[in-house]
Amino acid sequence: MKRIPEPFRIKMVEPIKMTTFSDRQQALKEAGYNPFLLRSDDVYIDLLTDSGTGAMSDNQWAGLMLGDESYAGSRNYYNLCAAVEHFFGYSLTVPAHQGRGAEQILFPALIERMRQVRGGTTPVFISNYHFDTTAGHIELNGGTAVNVVTPEAFDTTTPYDWKGNFDLDKLQTTIDHYGAQNICAITTTVTCNSSGGQPVSMANMRAVYEIASRHDIPVVIDSARYCENAYFIKQREAGYADATILDIIREMYQYGDMLTMSAKKDPMVNIGGLCCIRDHEELFQAVRTRCVPMEGFVTYGGMAGRDMEALARGLYEAANEDFLHYRISQVAYLGERLREAGIPIQYPTGGHAVFVDAAKILPHIPADQFPAQVLCNELYLEAGIRAVEIGSLLLGRDPQTGVQKAAELELMRLTIPRRVYTNDHMDYIADAIIALAKRASCFKGLEFTYEPPVLRHFTAKFRPL
Ligand code: F0G
Repeated sequence: MKRIPEPFRIKMVEPIKMTTFSDRQQALKEAGYNPFLLRSDDVYIDLLTDSGTGAMSDNQWAGLMLGDESYAGSRNYYNLCAAVEHFFGYSLTVPAHQGRGAEQILFPALIERMRQVRGGTTPVFISNYHFDTTAGHIELNGGTAVNVVTPEAFDTTTPYDWKGNFDLDKLQTTIDHYGAQNICAITTTVTCNSSGGQPVSMANMRAVYEIASRHDIPVVIDSARYCENAYFIKQREAGYADATILDIIREMYQYGDMLTMSAKKDPMVNIGGLCCIRDHEELFQAVRTRCVPMEGFVTYGGMAGRDMEALARGLYEAANEDFLHYRISQVAYLGERLREAGIPIQYPTGGHAVFVDAAKILPHIPADQFPAQVLCNELYLEAGIRAVEIGSLLLGRDPQTGVQKAAELELMRLTIPRRVYTNDHMDYIADAIIALAKRASCFKGLEFTYEPPVLRHFTAKFRPL
């Protein structure tokens, strides 16, 4: 596997503290064996998330100096609208402070529309896979979130190019089951974070849009990692090898009516989000109406003028093919090093992270002792690397019965921030995990000493058994 050299040079550095094993033992104990509760100063390589952790370019930093901080009608808002129109072809833009800000102003408006225009009564949303906050906003508003991702997504070892695809049969039967009038929207999440940053094919996006249109259901594109998805389409899908990333993005967004975006991922800003609508004026007005009390006036939506400028510029940089080639190759390189050493991962690797199959490495630790969390803790102790559990701990309990929900997979996510760590860092990470796996049979499970009632993974504390 080739290492693709960084398509940038470094003109400012941020030193990171080196720690000893005993420093880390102490820090982890104080954090209640939950890496979320570590101070970032005690972390050497932080792979908790790729969200808001990217390095802005000199061009984005220069843009900050051109912030127009007018309360209303900032010129940076219009620059942002122009970039949105250029890439997505959507003419109506509402900024938001981050992805979940966009969700909180859009989703209730979609529920309202389902009731008033489509005559439904019980709100349902369908997605290949809802991100946690997306499902959260649906449930907070009394709706049901249903995931219909392709079954290949749960088979980590068998390669499949499109582990983010919708299962189209299941999509149709889910619409029939709940009744089309009750479906507020279908959300296409690109790439599909929850299945491993896995792409959705253009053919699948097109088919989803056809099914949705047949039933008059709007399609939302959850766009945190849309450029990475476009790059996979170019690499893997017949007919797209010679298309530009811009062409591919424009076609992808023809298969949607609106988008929500956490701009903290692909566009490499530290904070920011978007809700954009192709041409549906009424919905746009409903979203703007919610924006004012929730996020801020309609031309800033929780963002400073300078941050909107950095985002407008970030939209262009995110779609740069040389950058995407390096980016996706860096993640694949880390994955390949682990696979060569026999470490089970979601394969092929996705766009933003390597997902290590902890259940396979720690078969002696049952789901309710959180094998992936154990692996995250051991990785921190071994090498000062902070990863994140995506498994039973994150999934939580059934709110009605209190019983632990059964997770399909117990994964440790090694999320790679954009333009932050070098390929040498990837080797360091791989070496640490390979060393760890050799000792895996000695690792012990965890039990709660404190379990919060909701979103427990962020603040829970544990004791090793
Ligand atoms: N949609 C997807 C697919 C996401 O991955 C995220 C965030 C959001 C929406 C919400 O956006 O954080 O800006 O409010 N994912 C981060 C992660 C937190 O670590 O995967 P936000």
